[in-house]
Amino acid sequence: MKILFATSEIHPLIKTGGLADVSAALPVALQALGQDVRVLIPGYSQVLDKLENKRKVATFSVFPGQPGVNLLSAKMPDSGVPVYVLDAPQYYCRVAGPYQYELGGDWPDNAMRFGMLSKVAALLGSADSPVAWQADVVHCNDWQSGLAPAYLQMTQSVHAKSVMTIHNIVFQGNFDRDWLGPLDLPQSCFDMHGVEFHGHLSFLKAGLHYADRIVTVSPTYAREIQSTELGHGMQGLLTSRNGDVSGILNGIDENEWNPATDPHLTSRYDSSDLAPKLAGKLALQKHLGLEANAEAPLLGVVSRLTYQKGLDLLLECLPKLLDGGAQLVVLGSGEVDLQRRYQQLASRYPGRVSVTVRFDEALSHQVMAYSDIFLMPSRFEPCGLNQMYGMRYGTPPVVRRTGGLADSVTDASQPDGTGFVFDEPSSAALYRAVSAAIDCYRGKKAFQRIQINGMRRDVGWSSSAQKYINLYQTIS
Ligand code: ADP
Ligand code: GLC
Repeated sequence: MKILFATSEIHPLIKTGGLADVSAALPVALQALGQDVRVLIPGYSQVLDKLENKRKVATFSVFPGQPGVNLLSAKMPDSGVPVYVLDAPQYYCRVAGPYQYELGGDWPDNAMRFGMLSKVAALLGSADSPVAWQADVVHCNDWQSGLAPAYLQMTQSVHAKSVMTIHNIVFQGNFDRDWLGPLDLPQSCFDMHGVEFHGHLSFLKAGLHYADRIVTVSPTYAREIQSTELGHGMQGLLTSRNGDVSGILNGIDENEWNPATDPHLTSRYDSSDLAPKLAGKLALQKHLGLEANAEAPLLGVVSRLTYQKGLDLLLECLPKLLDGGAQLVVLGSGEVDLQRRYQQLASRYPGRVSVTVRFDEALSHQVMAYSDIFLMPSRFEPCGLNQMYGMRYGTPPVVRRTGGLADSVTDASQPDGTGFVFDEPSSAALYRAVSAAIDCYRGKKAFQRIQINGMRRDVGWSSSAQKYINLYQTIS
């Protein structure tokens, strides 16, 4: 099958979170299973800078009255997966993030920037494709490509089927209805049975309404988003399309995230010998200004600092954990208030708490590898990748039983336990779970069993990629 994977971020070109990792790894797994998969990505400056051997393959106007854009063709570094780059510098070549400017506000023309991405995705799946390739299935990811299924449905000619994957239902791409005209959408689709959502033009709602199939990134989250509590207003639509909704658990790139070969690590290891992990821990402690203490349980966090991730719950119980002898390393950025509270904690506990507020790929691998216990107390978590990275690196995760965390981590009480699972979204419940993990760590033997179970667990993409293929086959 010819599959177009439309995405707004992809590792290692541009990344704000797990979507970038999925966009890099799933196409490779689909390709390995014999599919002709190509990625479509906006031509942000970072993408243009990092991609070599780009070739212009088409020039065309996306919306009436708009200047022409170029479509470039290239190959992803390392994997060689074919990628189409939507080259429209006036929209994508900007300093700061893909969705926001430096002070954290959304780019005011995001509707046009991602409406254009959606429209080009739909074009590549229609008989009017600007290149000599037409997708059978357009696979959309989150709201940024959510209008593609709408454009496909409105196409008169033969066109591709569409799959909409929800990576996080909180991000919906809701805009003023005045964007309908510039985005070449008929007023008639501004309807409850169309793109309208509470008086706004909603990219995600459009995707959920028009796509042939809806997927989210874990079976548990597929159920949770059909409830008022976690559906963010989309639960009614999702429930009405229940038969078309499924959950396919994300995998991880097992080459990129492999403690035996990881180039970001100072000492590498595998499940047959964990000793170098301890050497790495001592080096990391020194590097971050923590007391170099092999015995102190080192708790690790790598995360967007947002309400979703439950890291405010952690702040409440940290003093007790630190007073009990634990150390903490945090790598993350996000909400200003959380950043500030974590930085204050670091100044209160010099040598015991390290907080780094920035995006740092190399450090993220080191924290994952050299912490003893990884913390992910999310209030909700569509899938989560970090808990899987933690397991693979012999750093058992403490997670809340929600979404993909519930589907990927087995509690230590089970013979095949890979981490520590708690239920209540409260700092008391989190404290109990982290304390249990620390007790287990101090007991050594039982902890090692959990480490090894996690390192040997299959968290790769092959079975989930096959599930996506089966899904494509049911519609094409
Ligand atoms: P989400 O997509 O909700 O942020 P995931 O667990 O799916 O959560 O993926 C997060 C990804 O972003 C992981 O690859 C993680 O290592 C990475 N990440 C998050 N914050 C940082 C940071 N400050 N520096 C480097 N990588 C980060
Ligand atoms: C989103 C979710 C995260 C998921 C990632 C990749 O960012 O918050 O849980 O792992 O997408 O699907």
